[in-house]
Amino acid sequence: MRILLYSGKGGVGKTSVAAATGLQLAKQGLRTLVMSVDPAHSLADSFALKTSLFDAATADPMQVVPNLDIQEVNIQLEIKRHWREISGYITTVLRTSGLGDVEAEEMAILPGMEELSAMMYVNQYRKSGAYDVIVLDCAPTAESLRFISMPTTLDWYMKHVFPMERKVFNAVRPLANRMSPVELPSDSYFANIKDLFEKIEGIDTILEDPQLTSVRLVSNPERMVLRETQRAFVYFSLHGLTVDTIVVNRVLPAEANDSYFGKWREAQQEILGEVETYFNPVPVRRVPMFQEEVMGVERLEKLASVLYAADENPALVTRSERPYSFGRADGAYQVRVAMPFAAKGEVKLFKKGDELVIEVGTLRRHVGLPTSMAALQPQRATFEGQTLVVTLREVA
Ligand SMILES: Nc1ncnc2c1ncn2[C@@H]1O[C@H](COP(=O)(O)OP(=O)(O)OP(=O)(O)O)[C@@H](O)[C@H]1O
Ligand SMILES: [Mg+2]
Repeated sequence: MRILLYSGKGGVGKTSVAAATGLQLAKQGLRTLVMSVDPAHSLADSFALKTSLFDAATADPMQVVPNLDIQEVNIQLEIKRHWREISGYITTVLRTSGLGDVEAEEMAILPGMEELSAMMYVNQYRKSGAYDVIVLDCAPTAESLRFISMPTTLDWYMKHVFPMERKVFNAVRPLANRMSPVELPSDSYFANIKDLFEKIEGIDTILEDPQLTSVRLVSNPERMVLRETQRAFVYFSLHGLTVDTIVVNRVLPAEANDSYFGKWREAQQEILGEVETYFNPVPVRRVPMFQEEVMGVERLEKLASVLYAADENPALVTRSERPYSFGRADGAYQVRVAMPFAAKGEVKLFKKGDELVIEVGTLRRHVGLPTSMAALQPQRATFEGQTLVVTLREVA
């Protein structure tokens, strides 16, 4: 099974590109599911499905064309299915603090539950072999990053907090329940967490395997959007996920050359050049700004036809190399950048804001540093084969 994860800044066209990709995959005979992980779902809208047709009450996968199902993770329903113990406990606590029933129930939706639910589905479908490809239509970048860091966070919780919490609660429950206004979580709360954990176990290895999971970043030819795409690129890499394509959506076509849009087009063309340089060797694909909104199967197919060759399979593995890695060696921090295209020349390094700028000959790359490394200063750069290794240290 392949997982294709579409992410990017809000409104850039993630859902449209994910939906179009789903259609293309289905056309190649692959059993495909497009799953929306964004709580603000618009997948059904993108396919212009009548809400009466789309049974939100079950939120099970629903077929839109042969070989293509879509699913919108419905968090209220997921809570009933998987989270009852956890949210039940939180609701009790919130109620004692004076909140009404409905408010308490709504507030008991913890951040991250959607992501966890989506991951449980991914794991379940992988085990059952129900699909050849799962296309994940993610929420804007920040939330997607929560999606991919969730397994690690939970793993940490299960190893460190869970056993202790459980022991403590078991010891004090009889006494505390008599004295405290808030009931302590019951044993089933812990059983529920453990059960959930088992359901998403192994998902981190799946996400980090480039043969299984590929990230595609959707962007627009605008400087602010590009910045976010660069950051997303680095962060996905940091989490061990491989970005294999950049999709630049909403490129003004040559016809848009009048006095009003001409300037926009010029600026876009310049930014497109930068996009190619920055992400090299990751391929960049372009999608024009259409004259209409991309809604319904027909227009999504049109989008697919500019994005893919007629018989192209979007699920093929085209990149298995991880472009950046961050790590520690000999007490110093290291950034390792795959630079298969760089000639051995003079390497220049400097910091610009929280970015590390690496210049090799005339090539320049901005590497957004993770927060923990943003204050460090570069010390030296060496080549290990085709990998540039930059050493950073704290400066007193
Ligand atoms: N190339 C395009 N030409 C014209 N309209 C487009 C294009 N791409 C997307 N749109 C339209 O822009 C709007 C936003 O697109 P879409 O919903 O795919 O973005 P998104 O990144 O998923 O947004 P969100 O962050 O809210 O989930 C939609 O109305 C869509 O039809
Ligand atoms: Mg969307």
